[in-house]
Amino acid sequence: MTDFSALVEEAHSAFANTQTPAELENAKALFLGKTGKVTELMKGLAALSVDEKKTRGAAINVAKQAIEAALQQRRQELADQELQAQLASEQLDVTLPGRRQSAQGGLHPITLAQERIEAIFASMGFDVADGPEIESDWFSFTSLNNPPNHPARSMQDTFYVDAVGADGNYYNLRPHTSPMQVRYAQAHVRKHGGDFDIAKNQLFAGDMPEIRVIAPGRTYRVDSDATHSPMFHQVEGLWIGEAVSFKDLKAVYLNFITQFFETNALKLRFRPSYFPFTEPSAEIDIMFESGPLKGRWLEVSGSGQVHPNVIRNMGLDPERYIGFAFGSGIDRLAMLRYGVSDLRQFFEGDIRFLSQFQ
Ligand code: DAH
Repeated sequence: MTDFSALVEEAHSAFANTQTPAELENAKALFLGKTGKVTELMKGLAALSVDEKKTRGAAINVAKQAIEAALQQRRQELADQELQAQLASEQLDVTLPGRRQSAQGGLHPITLAQERIEAIFASMGFDVADGPEIESDWFSFTSLNNPPNHPARSMQDTFYVDAVGADGNYYNLRPHTSPMQVRYAQAHVRKHGGDFDIAKNQLFAGDMPEIRVIAPGRTYRVDSDATHSPMFHQVEGLWIGEAVSFKDLKAVYLNFITQFFETNALKLRFRPSYFPFTEPSAEIDIMFESGPLKGRWLEVSGSGQVHPNVIRNMGLDPERYIGFAFGSGIDRLAMLRYGVSDLRQFFEGDIRFLSQFQ
């Protein structure tokens, strides 16, 4: 008997019935393994004569090759199937939503308040200026008509830098943004042709565009409790022209404050006060007519008509130029707007607090 086509057929269908490479390897063992059917046939040859071995051996070999070819074919089929399944399962679904960053950064509430202030004043034609935080004694105090023995100059109130500048000045961490009044005005006067010498009392009395500027930024004082931080923020305002008066200050500040708090339901009042760099001087108080802060006067700013001595230090002739200035606490405005009761929370860097403002 040399026809092994039935055996080949049997192997074919056994291989075709397998669904995974492991199943196929098991099926292979049934035919080609150590005790497989083909192997057993080979072993049976030993007992035969040389001629019989030849014919029967050749036939077994043909069958074996056919079975091996069938095995190889099925291996390929299963590998193809696996690849197709993998391609289908790993298909990119372009309609799925993108992955988002779980935590996004944002602006600090003081920065948000400052940007808000800048936008409101810019809409009223005010320039926004930036200046040094390490400031000279002359700009911080002298130019602003502070007498030499004024308590604000003392070490209890102002941080001093341990060096004297090349100009002979003592330097401090500016205790207010007011020095920016004189810095900005001097630059403005020079830009418009003012060639002044304050020491010789040569002051500018020619034509120039009005000075209208705010200068927000960090300020420093030796002070620390629930409503004071050694580092805090102020915004200075200055408007100098030939006929700028308190009524302009009131209109500008009222417009600012109603926009900042997004309500018309508030009142503003000037309360007489004293600052060396203004005469007359006033505190600006506001009162909300509704909401949680309703009915209480809240101090938000110092202000006044710029003192003639300061106008002179700007390089301007006080006989021709006049105007007002104000200095407001940005942190205080932010506390009122966002309902924050302890100033220190702004500067502790607690993400649970800060993330509420995004
Ligand atoms: N510099 C003052 C302070 O820090 C605030 C201030 C008061 C600024 C009156 C002004 C002003 O421009 O006119 O307390």
